[in-house]
Amino acid sequence: MRRPAAAPALRAGDLDAPAEAPPAAEAPRRAPLLVLSGVSKTFGAVRALDGLGVSIAPGEFVTVVGPSGCGKSTLFNIVSGLEEPDEGGAIEFLGKRCRARDLLGKVSFMPQRDLLLPWRTVIDNAILAMEIEGARRGDARRIALDMLGEFGLAGFEHQYPHQLSGGMRQRVALMRTFLFKRDLMLLDEPFGALDALTRTLMQRWLLDVWQKHRRTILFITHDVDEALFLGDRVLVMTARPGRVKLEQPVSLPRPRRPDIVTTPEFIALKRTLLDAIEEESIKTFTLAKKEDAA
Ligand SMILES: Nc1ncnc2c1ncn2[C@@H]1O[C@H](COP(=O)(O)OP(=O)(O)O)[C@@H](O)[C@H]1O
Ligand SMILES: [Mg+2]
Repeated sequence: MRRPAAAPALRAGDLDAPAEAPPAAEAPRRAPLLVLSGVSKTFGAVRALDGLGVSIAPGEFVTVVGPSGCGKSTLFNIVSGLEEPDEGGAIEFLGKRCRARDLLGKVSFMPQRDLLLPWRTVIDNAILAMEIEGARRGDARRIALDMLGEFGLAGFEHQYPHQLSGGMRQRVALMRTFLFKRDLMLLDEPFGALDALTRTLMQRWLLDVWQKHRRTILFITHDVDEALFLGDRVLVMTARPGRVKLEQPVSLPRPRRPDIVTTPEFIALKRTLLDAIEEESIKTFTLAKKEDAA
């Protein structure tokens, strides 16, 4: 399959590096994969993002939390190349200044809704992005069939989305995103609609898959536990217009076991994040009241 033009920094965090590669937190500092500086986005009278800046290292797992409506999905739409930011900010990918639209096809993106096609089977939904890229259906199906087990979908290749549980549908959508092999994956609240138990299982599974495939992940969630359990770093966004309010490194050891959430280190980090989020949620609430009154 075709890969994006590779600058040296790309190879360092390559897709198929061995599973025993050190976690990003311990790896030597490498040139960033993506840098945003002063990125703003205005929709008519609504300022969604205002001077957002962030730098993402190759192989990093960065989680993003913030009050609803603060511009998280807008940020992903820009990084995936679907929306252009306002004039004045800068985007750098693999060390090169670019426009948002230059990132189209260079980033794999799982939007907030799973967007499976109801008339396609599991396997044909999983290969959709590969087909759009020009892969032959037979070749793509063979690659996807090999991965089914890893995604907990073995034996379900001929089922249709309506025959699957919520967790399985999310795994099909994730598999499609993984099969679109790009260094940077954007996942917008992928587990938001799942029950607590399925969600915990999916988080552990995602960490396994991430360690094995060594992708760089940006992951939006509204769940602070999830943000800490998964991330090398958590970005807390301000109330709209969104900026990065806090970048919290998470130096908890990997692999992470589910009971890590009961450790004093985890609880202390959670306290810090909850305080930051609460401050912003109150602002969002006040903003909503003002807009109602207007
Ligand atoms: N295409 C659009 N047109 C107009 N307003 C939009 C558009 N996309 C997002 N917005 C507005 O921008 C703000 C941020 O939205 P969004 O990025 O979806 O927030 P989040 O994902 O953090 O909940 C919201 O007020 C939303 O209504
Ligand atoms: Mg959103």
